Amino acid sequence: MRTLRTDRLSLRPWEPEDANFVYDLYSRWEVQRFIGLVPRMMEDRSEADRLIAKCRELNHSVHGFWAVERLEDARLVGTILLKGIPASGEPPLQPSGETEIGWHFHPDFWGNGYATEAASAVLAHGFREGLHRVIAATSAENSASQNVCRRIGMKHQGTTNSYYNANCELFLAEDVAP
Ligand SMILES: CC(C)(COP(=O)(O)OP(=O)(O)OC[C@H]1O[C@@H](n2cnc3c(N)ncnc32)[C@H](O)[C@@H]1OP(=O)(O)O)[C@@H](O)C(=O)NCCC(=O)NCCS
Repeated sequence: MRTLRTDRLSLRPWEPEDANFVYDLYSRWEVQRFIGLVPRMMEDRSEADRLIAKCRELNHSVHGFWAVERLEDARLVGTILLKGIPASGEPPLQPSGETEIGWHFHPDFWGNGYATEAASAVLAHGFREGLHRVIAATSAENSASQNVCRRIGMKHQGTTNSYYNANCELFLAEDVAP
């Protein structure tokens, strides 16, 4: 998985020693409330260890789960993910063939443009590596996330229930390079 860099941020693979940050991030309701069909906060630090191990397993040359670190002080601020999105259907959900981009940032660092800056870099990486379409599926109430979609140039496509067995607002970015 490729490490990426922006003006203010480094995007790198998760490391086992990041578990305290991951637990702090995902044990917060304000982070989890719009994630998953039934939002749920982490309740045990071992869940963070398992999540990091799973992210490291799933990383490959195009898709990935990046830990986003602030360059000025090496503090972790959040994560960007680029991965296959499952189609709605009978569980276990099957791949839809589309790639989704997503972002989960720590509330201490909201309001700085970090999610937008990191997501732009990951989107550019995806297109550079040959993706033609990247989608984002947000819940209707998640205006902060929809704002990130718009700021990185994604276009609203309306409401869909094609993914995750959930009603989502769908955003699309297409590679416009010739
Ligand atoms: C979605 C989420 C990542 C958005 O975080 P965010 O900090 O609002 O987004 P950005 O990093 O793009 O920052 C934008 C804000 O920073 C401000 N900002 C400050 N400096 C900036 C800069 N240099 N560049 C861009 N924006 C900047 C913008 O004005 C904007 O503030 P506003 O919302 O008050 O208008 C965050 O709310 C989150 O992690 N939520 C929980 C997880 C979640 O729901 N994920 C999405 C699931 S679909």
